[in-house]
Amino acid sequence: MIEIINLRKKFGNRWITNGVNLEIPKNKMTVIIGRSGEGKSVLLKQIIGLIKATSGKVIVDGVDITKLNETELQKMYKKFGYVFQFAALLDSLNVLENIGLTLLEHNNMPMEEIIKIVREKISLVNLKQEILYKYPNELSGGMKKRVGLARTLVRNPEIILYDEPTTGLDPITSRIVHELMADMQKRFQITSVVVSHDVEIFKYADYVALLNAGKIRYFGEAKDIWECDNPYVYQFIRGLANGPMGVDTPVDPSYGQEEDL
Ligand SMILES: Nc1ncnc2c1ncn2[C@@H]1O[C@H](COP(=O)(O)OP(=O)(O)OP(=O)(O)O)[C@@H](O)[C@H]1O
Ligand SMILES: [Mg+2]
Repeated sequence: MIEIINLRKKFGNRWITNGVNLEIPKNKMTVIIGRSGEGKSVLLKQIIGLIKATSGKVIVDGVDITKLNETELQKMYKKFGYVFQFAALLDSLNVLENIGLTLLEHNNMPMEEIIKIVREKISLVNLKQEILYKYPNELSGGMKKRVGLARTLVRNPEIILYDEPTTGLDPITSRIVHELMADMQKRFQITSVVVSHDVEIFKYADYVALLNAGKIRYFGEAKDIWECDNPYVYQFIRGLANGPMGVDTPVDPSYGQEEDL
């Protein structure tokens, strides 16, 4: 469903993604792991076209999104949902407004209809209806994450990209969020791409990809991950100091260097 071919992105003179090749299977959950600052969020944003690639392709349902203009991209966005790293709710809007905003912006939907859809999504993410008129600063971190997910579900996306959906949540709330994600994915046949540092996600995911120094170093099934002997995976999921990723410095000497395209 999503095919990433030799994708690269340079900020200043530093390559963040530096030749990412990855096939993300349809209707499955794929988790992208990697150390902080490796460019996981940049990669997610490149998949959806929020960050323009320096070179390479991102093919979604046969269309290379790196070649699209703004209008064509807007159309493509209908397929996508994006759950941001930090919920990204608008503080001056209540939950109803935060979730319903995209419906207001994109269609001329009557208010009663919007409220009905928002209520439906609120119950999908197991939140109580009374939350509707609360403001983000009245919500806990876990509630905000679920509101963020509800907002994404409003547009019935075929693909959902999640950036660290459980960071900062306690283990029980994390589990609830993971179960919700897995449930949505199965129930609505959603292709999910999840950036996460939370090793519990492997229980819910189908595939794991590891990003290091701008490249995918491993792709395989999530169920085998704890038996996996790929040295990057082995080091990363156990948090070991020794391994190919080093502790402070990226291993690939070309990483972060000026390079000809
Ligand atoms: N818009 C931007 N302009 C310049 N540099 C950027 C931009 N966005 C990201 N970067 C740089 O790209 C690198 C990768 O950032 P990114 O946020 O993708 O990391 P990450 O893997 O998601 O980290 P974390 O796990 O901490 O969220 C960082 O060095 C960051 O400073
Ligand atoms: Mg990030």
